[in-house]
Amino acid sequence: MADLTTCCGPETQATCCAPAEKEACCGDGSCGCGAAADVREQVRDRYAAAARAAQPGHVLSLGCGVPTAVADLHEGETVLDLGAGGGADVLISAGRVGPTGRAIGLDMTDEMLELARANAAAASVRNVEFVKGYIEDIPLPDGSVDVVISNCVINLSADKPKVLREAARVLRPGGRLAVSDVIADPDMDAATRADMAQWTGCIAGALTRGEFEAALTAAGLGGIEITETHRVHAHAGSAIIRARKPA
Ligand SMILES: C[S@@+](CC[C@H](N)C(=O)[O-])C[C@H]1O[C@@H](n2cnc3c(N)ncnc32)[C@H](O)[C@@H]1O
Repeated sequence: MADLTTCCGPETQATCCAPAEKEACCGDGSCGCGAAADVREQVRDRYAAAARAAQPGHVLSLGCGVPTAVADLHEGETVLDLGAGGGADVLISAGRVGPTGRAIGLDMTDEMLELARANAAAASVRNVEFVKGYIEDIPLPDGSVDVVISNCVINLSADKPKVLREAARVLRPGGRLAVSDVIADPDMDAATRADMAQWTGCIAGALTRGEFEAALTAAGLGGIEITETHRVHAHAGSAIIRARKPA
């Protein structure tokens, strides 16, 4: 039987049923989290392989945009990169925030964390930290970062509204979110969605602009701007998404 006390986050646990009852309550013992866990495992396998294939010392970028170009980073700020991969955006952020600031890369894949730490060491960048964890359960305290960035990772999550709620939680009042991500066109049927998943690697499917806006608003973020930068598929584009936590 699956470990029913840890199969999903506290919020889902609370809304599903008590741990001891989960198997009877939820049938397969997954607490309704089986699908999300499967998505994560597929994603992890894909990026573990990418990290293993990377040349040591070559910073790997698997993003779909340049969030650091629009994040307007300042000296002394703390930046969190969701799904940091080989650490390219973390290293750029570390340079922008300077020695009095800090750049934190969060990733769930051990091989990526190892690569990112090696890349930071090779570049002699010290104001960085790479942390293992899920973007759906960010292992940082409330109100602890000035800026959340991310480069083509939120689309990989099976629970995007939760990722955005977590991003809002860890932002300080007045803090900013600046992410690059894939945005699906609104007129997408299931077959096109599956085809796009193959093209973009978005196993869990991308949100439409309207869905992204709604999820950001529900997370308590305002000042939302979504600007498409380029097409990545006939039915989807890469966009820069910016929002702010009210001061
Ligand atoms: C498309 S790569 C992007 C890497 C990096 N942002 C870049 O631009 O090169 C996705 C990264 O996000 C990580 N990732 C995907 N889903 C995640 C999740 N749910 N929690 C934490 N990390 C995740 C993967 O391990 C991988 O390193």
